[in-house]
Amino acid sequence: MNFKVKDHYYKKAKEESYLARSIYKLDEINVKYAIIKTNDFVIDFGYYPGSWVQYCAKIVGDEGMIVGVDIQEINTKLKNLQNVLLLKKDIDQLNTIADLCTENTKININCANKFDVVLSDMAPKTTGIKMVDQENSLNLVRKVFDLLPIFLKVKGNIAIKIFEGGDGQNFLKEQKCKFEDFNYLRPKSTRSCSKEIFAIGKGYKGSKV
Ligand SMILES: C[S@@+](CC[C@H](N)C(=O)[O-])C[C@H]1O[C@@H](n2cnc3c(N)ncnc32)[C@H](O)[C@@H]1O
Repeated sequence: MNFKVKDHYYKKAKEESYLARSIYKLDEINVKYAIIKTNDFVIDFGYYPGSWVQYCAKIVGDEGMIVGVDIQEINTKLKNLQNVLLLKKDIDQLNTIADLCTENTKININCANKFDVVLSDMAPKTTGIKMVDQENSLNLVRKVFDLLPIFLKVKGNIAIKIFEGGDGQNFLKEQKCKFEDFNYLRPKSTRSCSKEIFAIGKGYKGSKV
């Protein structure tokens, strides 16, 4: 069953020229919760190889923009996409929007503008030790939530991947009240062996930095 699911979404992504099967997770999230819309300014943490960037570029259109951040080398396969800015950075290096503006990039970011949508599909390198992997994943999630007051507009939306287990659920429960609407989704395209779920928040209430 697991391999059938993998084959189906893997092949579908290839046929549709997407860089990863993860596209179908974001598509399911967006069809159900409508978190990304035309003209949005989106930041995608852990964008590489870039299927979410490809997907968002189609939705946000010419007036929108996508910033992708990853520790991997910039993926040149995305170079023809308009209004996409890719940065090779560790999320731990980011503290302000100005930290996105320091590189020699083809698009200037208005450092005064917060994002309409914050996405994170970040996954740490796995060690095989369950508790260590859960904690490393949760640290990435914590960092994304720490950045929200600085990066996300009031009324903005999020979709953030987290691995089930450990302190993750408790941490997310504490974040719920920061949004008008907060849900969890395990997309159909998730491999059956994976522990990942997505936290989807709509209508960020904002918070003092
Ligand atoms: C599952 S992949 C993302 C797939 C992507 N959503 C797509 O559609 O192609 C997870 C990514 O998270 C990145 N990542 C892990 N730790 C990170 C960190 N500290 N800062 C930025 N990116 C990180 C990894 O390098 C990896 O490329």
